[in-house]
Amino acid sequence: MMRELPIGVFDSGIGGLTVVRQLRKALPSEDIVYLGDTARVPYGTKSPSTVVRFACEDTQFLLQQNVKAVVVACNTCSAWALPMLEKKFSVPVFGVILPGVRAALERTRNRRIGIIGTSATIRSKAYSNGILARCDTAKVFARPCPLLVPLVEEGWIRHRVTNTVLQEYLQPLVRHRIDTLILGCTHYPLIKGAIRQVAGPGVVLIDSAESCALYVRERLEQMKLVALNRRRAGTIQPFVTDETDRFAEIAAKFLGTATEPPWRVDLTAMTYMSAHK
Ligand code: DGL
Repeated sequence: MMRELPIGVFDSGIGGLTVVRQLRKALPSEDIVYLGDTARVPYGTKSPSTVVRFACEDTQFLLQQNVKAVVVACNTCSAWALPMLEKKFSVPVFGVILPGVRAALERTRNRRIGIIGTSATIRSKAYSNGILARCDTAKVFARPCPLLVPLVEEGWIRHRVTNTVLQEYLQPLVRHRIDTLILGCTHYPLIKGAIRQVAGPGVVLIDSAESCALYVRERLEQMKLVALNRRRAGTIQPFVTDETDRFAEIAAKFLGTATEPPWRVDLTAMTYMSAHK
């Protein structure tokens, strides 16, 4: 039965586990196959054509794992590649942009919305266009924040350097009197506390991972693709494209729970090596 198959999730690296964490909350008994393209991360600094090519390869791999739907956890891939993936592949493909846009429009009062993301995500204008297409009186203020991904990966979650960088990035948005800020990158939920401190209590933070997971649940229910009568917790099977050594350690930080042992995969050869050998 189609509905008993796992959900496929992919990201440029480990960051997409923030989306898996939210999916776990929204759909606790679904099995998840996760692909992190750790050999080629980051995508956020790459050109649109490269991002689209990588996104197609990532999706192709997940389809070979026999998934019922694909969740594009990576904001950069959602921004550049979603329309192409929807056209090219026959399973439902869900991204993070539309759910984030919808959530921001539901929460804003003054219709002044800030967006932060990688350079590639901001350059795509995917969030801005999504907002303006649904509300032409909205004012959108977007800002690329390329230093935040490396700071989070370094583990500098509560660190004065991260606070200083956030002030530099967010103060202009705050000066524009935004009341809602979209966290348009897989890594930003991990520094939500620091972002909240700099943005101030008057700014609602939209966690794109959380809104994406709620949207996926809604759509799977509509499509009758939610697994039925499952009494066990869903499993998470990770695949990565680089060595698996530090996976468990980093995964625990992003995910807050254990996974099956990760496997290493070569997307070009499509051959798999066991992680633990
Ligand atoms: N996963 C990417 C995103 O959400 C961030 C990391 C990268 O640049 O690849 O845009």
